[in-house]
Amino acid sequence: MAGLIRINDDVFEEFISEKQIRERIKELADVINTDYAGRIPIFIGVLNGSFIFLSDLIREISVDCEIDFFKLSSYGDAKISSGQVRLLKDLNCEVAGRDIIVVEDIVDSGLSIAFTKKIIEKESPKSIKFISLLLKKGIPKIDFTIDYVGFEIPPDFVIGYGLDYAQKVRNLKSIYKLTRQGTIRPE
Ligand code: IMP
Ligand code: MG
Repeated sequence: MAGLIRINDDVFEEFISEKQIRERIKELADVINTDYAGRIPIFIGVLNGSFIFLSDLIREISVDCEIDFFKLSSYGDAKISSGQVRLLKDLNCEVAGRDIIVVEDIVDSGLSIAFTKKIIEKESPKSIKFISLLLKKGIPKIDFTIDYVGFEIPPDFVIGYGLDYAQKVRNLKSIYKLTRQGTIRPE
């Protein structure tokens, strides 16, 4: 059936289409363009998951801006967070005195974004805001707001549009949701 993907014996169903993603990114960018008029923000993408979202978002941004990347690891190849966040690649840009926008693909437990906030705040930015394409409802254990959210979603496992399943399927154009869990696990 169209819109269904099988990986091992897990079944995923199309959940957010390419068109819905594109339209929502345009809306988010319009708000950011207004909020940052006359400023030069640095978009900091949290790798790997945010690279597609960041590249689509940035092309709808009309204010002058810069980008940099930060790489974290917390999941290994599992579907559930290990609860451990490690820094794999640090920033190259000068954060002090700058307007920072942290770009995430998804906020699940909130551990990664909280870790990122702590590290960036140590460098004394002028301001720091957060954008995430997806936010899992009711799950994040964070005591601050995600300023710009694409879609609030139920706490299901999702893939595609940058989000991986054991490092694969980041190249899917839409976002898919796990609807039936099989018994075979990725190694
Ligand atoms: P955290 O639990 O908020 O720390 O999420 C950590 C990272 O895990 C996110 O930035 C994603 O890269 C990844 N992640 C969280 N939930 C999912 C999911 O449903 N599918 C794929 N990756 C996810
Ligand atoms: Mg991520």
